[in-house]
Amino acid sequence: MSFDVRAIRADFPVLATTVRGKPLVFLDSGASAQKPRQVISAMTRCMESAYANVHRGAYYLSETATEAYEAARRAVQVFLNAAMPEEIVFTANSTMAINLVAHCYGRGVMKPGQAVLATEMEHHANIVPWQMLRDATGVELRFARVTDAGELDMEDVAAKLADGKVGLVAVTHMSNVLGTVTPAERIAQMAHAAGAKVLFDGSQAAVHRKVDVQALDADFYVFTGHKLYGPTGIGVLYAKHALLERMPPFLGGGDMISSVSLAGSTWAPPPAKFEAGTPAIVEAIGLHAAIDYVTAIGMPAIEAHERALVEHAMRRLSDVEGLAVLGSAQDRGGVFSFALDNAHAHDLSTLLDRAGIAVRAGRHCAEPLHARFGLEGGTCRASFGLYTTPAEIDFLAAALVKAREFFA
Ligand code: ALA
Repeated sequence: MSFDVRAIRADFPVLATTVRGKPLVFLDSGASAQKPRQVISAMTRCMESAYANVHRGAYYLSETATEAYEAARRAVQVFLNAAMPEEIVFTANSTMAINLVAHCYGRGVMKPGQAVLATEMEHHANIVPWQMLRDATGVELRFARVTDAGELDMEDVAAKLADGKVGLVAVTHMSNVLGTVTPAERIAQMAHAAGAKVLFDGSQAAVHRKVDVQALDADFYVFTGHKLYGPTGIGVLYAKHALLERMPPFLGGGDMISSVSLAGSTWAPPPAKFEAGTPAIVEAIGLHAAIDYVTAIGMPAIEAHERALVEHAMRRLSDVEGLAVLGSAQDRGGVFSFALDNAHAHDLSTLLDRAGIAVRAGRHCAEPLHARFGLEGGTCRASFGLYTTPAEIDFLAAALVKAREFFA
C-alpha cells in the first residue's frame, strides 16, 4: 500500500464530521489519535462473535479469544522487534507501564544509594512515579537539562551518569511538547557504560517512527494504544526477559499466579506475572488491528509523510508574526507547541475551535518543561497524525494570523 493521505482519511469516520458546521481540523493526535474503521470493526467483530474471557475456559469461544489476545502480543513483539512475545506485557497505558517499572524494578531490584536519571522534558508520567519511588525508598532522583533549542543536554547526561550511582535512566524517545526526538541509541550506550538500565517512554515516538528495541538495546520501552490509532485502555511494556524474571509482580490476583494456598502464593512466569485480573481483551484485539493498519501503510512511509508535514509547519508557523514556537531541535516529530503575543493559551484554543481546529491548550502534562522555558501559563499545541494534511497546517497558520489581529 503506498501512502495516499486521501485514502487514509477515508478510513477514519470521525474526520468527515463537522464542528459547528465547519470541517473538523483535528490537530490533537498527540493527546489521542482518531481510529480507523479497521480498528473499530475488529473490536466489534470480537464482541459480536468471538468474545469470552481468556486463559480460563476450555471451551471454543474462550480458546478463540485467548488465541486472538496472544496473537496481539505477537503482533506487538514484531512491531517492536522484541526477541520473544514473553517480553511484551499488556498494561492499561504508558503511565501504568512506567509505574509498573518504578514499582517492580525500582522497589524490587534497585538498591539504596542508587539514583534514577530522568530529564526536564519528561511527561508527568515519567516524573511522578520516580518521585513516588524516591519518597518511598530514598533512591535519588536526578534530571538532565534541556538546552534552549529544546534538545537534551548530552554533556549534562554524561555528567549525571559519571559517579556510577545511576541504576536507571528514564527518558522520552520523543517529547510530547517540543517534538524533539532524543538520541535513544546513544543514551542507551551511555547508560549501559555507566552500569544503568534504560527505559524509553515511546508514547509519542512509536506512533511516528519504526522502533526496534533490540537495535536500541532498550531495557524497557513503553507505549500506549490510543495514540497509535488503537483503543484506550491498552498499553505496552516491553522489557528484556531477564529483567522481567528478576522483578517481583506488580498487582496481585488472578492470572498472575502459579499456585495459591492460604499460606502463600507463587507466581506465573512473565508476562502473566504482570497481568493480574481479566485483561483488556477487546482492546488488545483493537491494538492488533491498529498495528496491522500502520504496518500495511509502512512506518517508513508514515515517517516520511510526517517529516514533510514538520518541514511545512516550520515554514508556515515561522511566517506568523508574534508566534513563538517552543524548541528548534534538529530531529523533531509532528508536535508544535506555541505561544501567541497577548493571547492566553486557553483563549487562543477557544478561538481556534470556533474555526473547527482542535488543538490542546495548557501545559500538556509537562509542567516542569514549561517552567524551564518560563511559560508557566502554558502553550497551545498542534500535533499531527498520519491523516494530517499540509492544507490543515495552512488553515491553522491562517487562523493564527487572524487570532493575532483579534488579540491585538
Ligand atoms: N500525554 C498526552 C498528551 O501529551 C495526553 O497530550
